[in-house]
Amino acid sequence: MARIDYAKIAGDYAQARGLTEGGLAGWREAVRPYLGGLALPVVDVGSGAGQFAALFPSWFGVQVVGVEPSAAMRAEAVANTSDARVTYLHGDAQHLPLADLSAGAAWISTVIHHIPNLPAAAAEIRRVLTPGAPVLIRSAFPGRTGGVSLFRFFPEAAKVVETFPSIEQVEQDFGAAGFRLERVEPVVQVSVQSLREFRTRVALRADTTLRGITDEAFAAGLARLDTAILGGEAEGPVIDLLDLVVLR
Ligand SMILES: C[S@@+](CC[C@H](N)C(=O)[O-])C[C@H]1O[C@@H](n2cnc3c(N)ncnc32)[C@H](O)[C@@H]1O
Repeated sequence: MARIDYAKIAGDYAQARGLTEGGLAGWREAVRPYLGGLALPVVDVGSGAGQFAALFPSWFGVQVVGVEPSAAMRAEAVANTSDARVTYLHGDAQHLPLADLSAGAAWISTVIHHIPNLPAAAAEIRRVLTPGAPVLIRSAFPGRTGGVSLFRFFPEAAKVVETFPSIEQVEQDFGAAGFRLERVEPVVQVSVQSLREFRTRVALRADTTLRGITDEAFAAGLARLDTAILGGEAEGPVIDLLDLVVLR
């Protein structure tokens, strides 16, 4: 069963999960060595509301093909994207609507835990990428959740990440398709400008890990957040660390 129904949350996604271009500066620099000036398009696997697909052309001068199974998320992506170098297509990680050897890189951001058959997805990504092209995975991984602010307030949600594919699993499944692990790097992002803003977003519960906990645990987490805000922690941005995993 799907961990979350994106048809239902698509309209809230930008408000609940969207990041500003400034907040993503760390990601821009972490990814630049792999995507800068690519001649072939980047395939954004599970492009969602187009958070990254919409930015990659202006950041790196590349074309992007966003592949996304949810029609509602694709519609959000189209509305959020003005650059003609970006195209959105129906498909998923196991069925990419791209020709063999037609893409210069794959970008997979907070999607890996939704893919029901990771070995099949790895083989499909191998089919569409040119030899030596990078696969860039942005995600929280089991055992590496210490840099995610959400889990300070919702410790039960961190346990949901333990059910996500581990880096070792990713290495094994992509290894079977011919990829080799090249790099694992925690990357800093500014998620929101204040804890108050964070509270407003979290209350929308548009996150797999928050959907995976009980209503009681969710309410307790919101109460912890309120206590922190009342205690004066509301000032200053909320900073998070997710991992960038690179394979070739
Ligand atoms: C958390 S969103 C991430 C969206 C975008 N990559 C981002 O970073 O903003 C997860 C997306 O993965 C999509 N998805 C779910 N199952 C998928 C699959 N098997 N293959 C590709 N994408 C999938 C969902 O529809 C959703 O849009």
